[in-house]
Amino acid sequence: MVCLGNICRSPMAEGVLRARLREAGLEAKVHVDSAATGRSHVGHAPDERAIACAAKHGVDISEQRARALTLEDFTTFDFILCADRTILHDARIRKPRTAHADVELLMEWSGLGKKDVPDPYCGDPRDFARAWKLVDAAASGVVERIRQGRF
Ligand code: 4NP
Repeated sequence: MVCLGNICRSPMAEGVLRARLREAGLEAKVHVDSAATGRSHVGHAPDERAIACAAKHGVDISEQRARALTLEDFTTFDFILCADRTILHDARIRKPRTAHADVELLMEWSGLGKKDVPDPYCGDPRDFARAWKLVDAAASGVVERIRQGRF
C-alpha cells in the first residue's frame, strides 16, 4: 500500500487490509506493508486523524511507522497498490526493469473502478472518513480477489 506520506491513506489501507485478511483466515498467506513515495514523514507515526478514524472502526494503526518505498520493494512484493494516479505514476517510474512487482491503482485492483483515494492530509475529519470508506471497500475487494485466485 503506497501513498505520498505513509501517514494517512496507506497506513489506514494496511491496517484495514490486515484486519480483513485476519477475518478471512488469510493473514498468514499475505504479507502486507505500506510505504511512501515522499520522504518528509519517514519514521513518523500515522496522522492522529488517521489513527482516530481506524480506531473508530476497531483497527489499531498507532504502532505503524512511515517508511519510504525502496527499490527492493519491487522485488519483495508481488503487488504495489497505489492510493492515487500521481503515486501510481511515480511508483511505476521507480520500478527497476528487472523487478516483477505489478504496480497498480488500489481502487482499480480491488475491482472498484479507476479512481483515486483523495489525499485527506489538508482536509478535515470528514475527508479522513471518506478515505477510510474507500480503503475499507478496497480491502474487501482485495480479499475477495485473493479468495478467487485472481492475481
Ligand atoms: P498520505 O497523506 O499520502 O495519505 O500519507 C499525506 C501526508 C503528508 C503530506 C501529504 C499527504 N505532506 O505533504 O506532508
